[in-house]
Amino acid sequence: MKNMKDRLIQPDYAFNYKKNEFCVEGIPLTELMDRYGSPLYVYSGKAVRESYARLKKSLKGMPVQICYAVKANSNLSILKLIRNLGAGCDLVSHGEWRRAEQAGVPRGLRVLSGVAKTAEELDQLLQLPNAGVGSIHVESVMEFELIQLLANYRKKPVTVAFRYNPDVDAKTHEKISTGRRKDKFGLTREEILDLSVNFAQDEYVRIAGISIHIGSQILSLKPYEQAFRILSNLCDEVEAHLGRPLDYIDLGGGIGVPYRPGEESLSLSEYAALVKKYFHSSAKGGRKMKKILLEPGRSLMANAGVLISEVVYSKVRENHRTLILDSGMNDLMRPALYDAYHGIVALHQSRDVKMAKWDVVGGICESSDYFARDRPLQVEGLPGERVAILSAGAYGFSMSNSYNTRPQVAEVLVDQGKTKLIRRRQTFEDLISPELEMK
Ligand code: LLP
Repeated sequence: MKNMKDRLIQPDYAFNYKKNEFCVEGIPLTELMDRYGSPLYVYSGKAVRESYARLKKSLKGMPVQICYAVKANSNLSILKLIRNLGAGCDLVSHGEWRRAEQAGVPRGLRVLSGVAKTAEELDQLLQLPNAGVGSIHVESVMEFELIQLLANYRKKPVTVAFRYNPDVDAKTHEKISTGRRKDKFGLTREEILDLSVNFAQDEYVRIAGISIHIGSQILSLKPYEQAFRILSNLCDEVEAHLGRPLDYIDLGGGIGVPYRPGEESLSLSEYAALVKKYFHSSAKGGRKMKKILLEPGRSLMANAGVLISEVVYSKVRENHRTLILDSGMNDLMRPALYDAYHGIVALHQSRDVKMAKWDVVGGICESSDYFARDRPLQVEGLPGERVAILSAGAYGFSMSNSYNTRPQVAEVLVDQGKTKLIRRRQTFEDLISPELEMK
C-alpha cells in the first residue's frame, strides 16, 4: 500500500459527507451558506496545515525555507495562517508586497518576483532596509540595470537573485508553463553570466542566488530533474564569476495536486530526494546550498477550499441537461480559462435523486462560462439546490473579478474549531465606488 502522507491531500481530505450533508471539518456547508450567503468560498485551516506539514516533513534535514506563493490565495487571514506555520512568501507585485506587510510576514522571508516591477515601485522599496524583502528576483537585464542604478543612486544595499529561464518544458497546460525560452519569464544563461561578470563587485547590489519556476500543476518529476540539473550547472558558473558561493537557490513552485478522484500528486519524498540530490549533497553532480527556497502555492491551497453555490434554474431537454448556478466564471476562472477539471458535488446527498449528466454553467454572458460538461451529478435541477465546486482554494478567489457587474463573493475560513468570515461580500456600492460620473 502506498504511503498517502507522501502525497498531497485529496479533495476530500477536509470536505466530505456526514449524514448526507457535505461538510467542511464536520460543519455542514449548507449552514455556512445560510449564514453567509451564496456563492461563498470556504477554506479549511486543517487542510492548509496538513499540506504544509506534509511538504515540510518530506524536506526534513535540508535547509529549506518555504515561501508561499501569495498569488494562489492572497486573503490576509490565509497569509497570517501560513505565516504562523513559519513560511515566508513569494510576491509578484507591489500590491502583494503590501499584503505581506499587512499580514506581518517577516521582510527577510519575502522574495519579490514579477516581470514588470516599475521604477516607481522599486524606488519606493529601495528606501527601506534591503528594499523591504529578503531578495528581489530579477527577470530581465533592463530590470537588473535599473535596480543597480537606483541602489547606487540612493546608496541603499539590496539583495537580488536571477530568475533563470532554463528552457525546460514542464509538460503542463500551455497557459501555465513558464520555463521555456519562448515564455516571458526570467533570464537566459548567457544574460545571467554577463550580469554576474559585470556586477560581481557592485557596491550596493548583492547577487545572492538563482531562482527558477518552470510552471504550475506539474505531475511528473522529469521536468524538475531536467531543470535542477541545468540550474546546478549554472550555479557553478555564476559562483566562478562571483568568486564566492551563492547564498541560496529558489526552486519555485509548481507541484501538482489531485483534482480528479484518485488522481495522484507527485511523491513528495521523490521530489525531496531530487532536491537533495542536486542541492544538498556532496556527491558528484550535487552541491550543498546554504539555503533552499521553495515557492508552493497550489500545493498548499487548492484542496483546502471549495466554492459553494446555488442552483438558479435548470433546463432539462431531451438528452441534455443544464444546471445554471448563481456563481460564474468571474468567481472561478479556471475551467473557462484552462479547461480545468473541478469536482462538483451536491451539498445534500439524497438516495432518491438519480445520477444524471449535467452541463454546469454560470450566469456570465460568455459561452466559455462552464464549470463542467456532461458531469454525472446527483441533483434534481431545482432552484435553491446547493452544490460545491471542489479544489478551489488556489487561483479561485484570487483570480476572481466583477465582470458583468457581479460583486465579488465572500470568503470563510474554518480553522481550529472556529468559523470566520475573512472577506465580506462585495456590495454594488463597493464595486461602483471608484467610478467617476461625467457631469
Ligand atoms: N513562483 C512563481 C514565480 C510563480 O509564478 C508561481 C505561479 C508560483 C511560484 C506558484 O506556483 P504553484 O505552486 O501554485 O504551481 N492561475 C493558474 C496558475 C498560475 C501559476 C502562476 N505562477 C492556475 O489556476 O492553474
